[in-house]
Amino acid sequence: MEVVIVPDAKEGGELIAEAMAALLRRKPDALLGVATGSTPLPIYEALANKVAAGAVDASRARICQLDEYVGLPAGHPESYRSVVLREVVAPLGLGADSFMGPDGAAEDLQAACDAYDRALAEAGGVDLQLLGIGTDGHIGFNEPCSSLASRTRIKTLTQRTREDNARFFDSLDEVPHHVITQGIGTILEARHLVLLATGEGKADAVAQTVEGPVSALVPASALQLHPHATVVVDEAAASEL
Ligand code: GLP
Repeated sequence: MEVVIVPDAKEGGELIAEAMAALLRRKPDALLGVATGSTPLPIYEALANKVAAGAVDASRARICQLDEYVGLPAGHPESYRSVVLREVVAPLGLGADSFMGPDGAAEDLQAACDAYDRALAEAGGVDLQLLGIGTDGHIGFNEPCSSLASRTRIKTLTQRTREDNARFFDSLDEVPHHVITQGIGTILEARHLVLLATGEGKADAVAQTVEGPVSALVPASALQLHPHATVVVDEAAASEL
């Protein structure tokens, strides 16, 4: 695992956007796995700026989602499908046809999870998967105690994660209890994993991820098992290393 400490979130975003641009120059139709939350927004902004400046052609890029809430009405602005279309797909000038994600409104949710795992494999696998990290060390929505071999499946959110994510909703009551997430085993199949963590609130989770034992109690520690994992942290998030 490679750990890169950057001065701030903007620099982290720039560094990772450049890695994504370099990948697209090598492989124009790369499958880019994207994450939601506030942390990766500087990456998407920096990449969109590069596209607008003509520094990289992203017109053949393919985008896939890491996780999704279950039970939000179609088109809800905080469904991760809406977020990824708004924050990534549209700013890169791509259409919804270049995007894939799990169906959190499916009647048979487990079938939707299995279908998504198959779709990722049929698309040739994820070339670069961006990850954020929860304050409890979760990646995607794999909460502590998730199996390190898990596949895409339904999970129940912890109260802490619902509280962390309540800022995106009008009230805590509106935050769904259930989600679909790529499993840790699914995530580990991506060719390159890039985790960005910024701010002091992530320092403990980052220290456990990087320096602690590999443990299902800290799902992000599974990155230690991956042959090509990069952890980019700002100085605040690196403060317990
Ligand atoms: C959610 C997402 C994760 C994300 C995490 C942290 O739980 N499912 O993919 O990493 O939030 O979000 P933030 O970057 O806003 O702290």
